[in-house]
Amino acid sequence: MRNACLLMSLVLYFGVVNGEFQVFNLKNYGAIDGGSVDNSQALLKAWDDACKWKGERGAQVLIPLGTYLTKDVILTGPCRGPIRFRIIGVLKAPAGRTGLDHWINIRYVDRLTVDGQGTFDGQGQTVWAQPNSAQGRSYSNSALPSILSFAFVTNSRVRNIKLLNSKSTHFHIFGCDSLDINRIRIQAPEQSPNTDGIKIGVSRNIRISNSHIGSGDDCIALLTGSNNINITGIHCGPGHGISIGSLGSSPDDHVSQILVRKCMFTNTMNGVRIKTWATNNPGSVSYITFKDIAINSAYNPIVIDQNYCPLNNCPKGNSHVQIGNVKFTNVTGTSMTNAVVNLQCSGSNPCTNIELTDIRMTYVGRPKGLGFQACSNVEGGASGVQIPKSCF
Ligand SMILES: *[C@@H]1O[C@H](CO)[C@@H](O)[C@H](O)[C@H]1NC(C)=O
Ligand SMILES: *[C@@H]1O[C@H](CO)[C@@H](O)[C@H](O)[C@H]1NC(C)=O
Repeated sequence: MRNACLLMSLVLYFGVVNGEFQVFNLKNYGAIDGGSVDNSQALLKAWDDACKWKGERGAQVLIPLGTYLTKDVILTGPCRGPIRFRIIGVLKAPAGRTGLDHWINIRYVDRLTVDGQGTFDGQGQTVWAQPNSAQGRSYSNSALPSILSFAFVTNSRVRNIKLLNSKSTHFHIFGCDSLDINRIRIQAPEQSPNTDGIKIGVSRNIRISNSHIGSGDDCIALLTGSNNINITGIHCGPGHGISIGSLGSSPDDHVSQILVRKCMFTNTMNGVRIKTWATNNPGSVSYITFKDIAINSAYNPIVIDQNYCPLNNCPKGNSHVQIGNVKFTNVTGTSMTNAVVNLQCSGSNPCTNIELTDIRMTYVGRPKGLGFQACSNVEGGASGVQIPKSCF
């Protein structure tokens, strides 16, 4: 019955009128359960056959119950019809470094569904403790693989999957258009380095909703080229919050039309944040709304930081990324530091049209004291309740 409903909704979603998905089961390609034998060839063949499956009916790659060790794969389209990647069991990454920035990489696919209640296990715990160089070679952090990466994927959706312990970003989205990501779970420990939850760049028309993201870095990071992204009903924590940026490390970084609504942050470093490097590179951040946000004990709940410099070794200058039309509306909660709202904009390009509406934040850190709002180089206004009092 449940499957029938699911099928119905998929049929409606894809406009498929003709019967069922053709299933390409990993088991039928010689995959071996148990987590010790590499199954990447089986996965590539199953994908290939599914992708070639003709037309309207659509195809399904099925990862059945069990644990399947798989080396890095690139699953490429375009496919002949809609394709579903249904993971019921566990796909497990190899231990240690591979020198690549991807593990399960899906490219050039239209009308993809990834679902099935299963788990992508990135085995990050096998690299997190290692120093950043090995065997005389030095690796940048980008050479550690994301669990799932989408490049040029369109009109697709991801739901009911779990991404566990990535070596780096959990889900990387690049060059994509029209994605619906719903009810996923991302889980890695607070101390795991650079394990962003979802990282988006050069992509538009994306919805992320009703998901739980806990990791060692940003729960969601929106990088340059992010446009029309709606993030709703996310529970973030542990992690560094939901961030726009960093921007300004190259010329013409732009982010616009971002809506973050009904999100909750628990024991995170930051809450909602926009960050840019203080460089001469021009760029812009505009039409950003953070609304109905609950923040529980964040160190930096509401932040614009145009002097972003995590390692304290940046040249001193002004950011030339222009930030404008940003709303923080109905933000409630507690802060571990006394600057509960901290808007530090650029001296050369002050922020414009920043609106704070109904802010209720309490400082609960040590030493005991009163919280305050701090703004510099900000033009805008405050309305509704302002606790503590507005910086405007
Ligand atoms: C995001 O929400 C806005 C306002 O409700 C809507 O106009 C826009 O189409 C939505 N975008 C996506 C990608 O869902
Ligand atoms: C403010 O946001 C909270 C969630 O953090 C929500 O429960 C509440 O309904 C919102 N208030 C208004 C007036 O929308």
